Amino acid sequence: MKIQRIVSGMRPSGRLHLGHLHGVMENWLDLQKRYDAFFFVADWHALTSEYADPSGLTGNAEEMVVDWMAAGLAPGSSTIFLQSYIKEHAELHLLLSMITPLSWLERNPTYKEQMAEVKDKDLHTYGFLGYPVLQTADIIIYKADGVPVGIDQAPHIELSREIVRRFNYIYKAEIFLEPATLLTEVPKILGTDGRKMSKSYNNAIYLSDEPEEVERKILTMVTDPARKRRNDKGNPDICPVYLTFHRMYSSDERLEWVRDGCTTASIGCIECKKTILPHVLDKLGPIQERRRELLGQKGLVREVLEEGGRKAREVAASTMEEVRTAMRLDLFNGNS
Ligand code: TRP
Ligand code: SF4
Repeated sequence: MKIQRIVSGMRPSGRLHLGHLHGVMENWLDLQKRYDAFFFVADWHALTSEYADPSGLTGNAEEMVVDWMAAGLAPGSSTIFLQSYIKEHAELHLLLSMITPLSWLERNPTYKEQMAEVKDKDLHTYGFLGYPVLQTADIIIYKADGVPVGIDQAPHIELSREIVRRFNYIYKAEIFLEPATLLTEVPKILGTDGRKMSKSYNNAIYLSDEPEEVERKILTMVTDPARKRRNDKGNPDICPVYLTFHRMYSSDERLEWVRDGCTTASIGCIECKKTILPHVLDKLGPIQERRRELLGQKGLVREVLEEGGRKAREVAASTMEEVRTAMRLDLFNGNS
């Protein structure tokens, strides 16, 4: 069957960087043209780990939506909303939590990984364990048949399908569809220190960085550590500048020029980096222009989220009526 409706969410991380742009946003822009697309800010999901200090969430959500729209996400093509605006997600999450076996959640690989890795927050909570149950509610409440996500999220969508099957079996209902995972090929975008580009590593180039800032970040980015001096030969295959920027922005001819120049030390790293700059700035220019326009229209983000929220709620509310009926909780259906 052909996929028709897709849903995807992003936790509110604030301003977007090039990793988001090339990893997620460009895919979303393509999807919004082809499907009935729902994109939302997963602020409740952020709360599962940020519950102790939620002060930044609202600001981050707004900044992120500005960047979504600056990148080209359009309220005319996508339904853009905030998760916590649609209380029905919480109701469905609660009801699904009744039927979700603990063992399914305890064996979830992202849960095990985060519990082992994250040391600065206490994640021994009911909410954190239930993260994929909330995610399931986000998806199936819109009867989405496809969910575009990176490979790290694939186990959660698998779990969504299991929860759907269990719900349909227990309540003899056919309300929900089993969502397919639309795997997004995420190119590995490295930051200025050579690690994966991430806000928390402080190594990111943001969509909102001024051209001088972009230039400074690229010119100081780490390269092949073997090239300490201008005469040292290098290896592009281990150079983050090559692996991320040249690969993404340079023509085949340019790639050859870099490989040749780097391995023979006939070009220097600064010269090599300078050839990328115009490409990055060309990419960011129109985004930044739209960003300025958007910021000039006060209250716009709020309006977009409200409008999208209304559209989303209509669908969510109607699904919940079906759910209450299937679960015999329908005494007050449609009468609240
Ligand atoms: N867990 C997702 C992430 O961290 C975000 C998310 C929340 C999501 N709800 C979703 C993604 C529903 C897709 C569908 O990236
Ligand atoms: Fe990297 Fe270019 Fe320097 Fe080679 S010349 S190490 S590819 S920045």
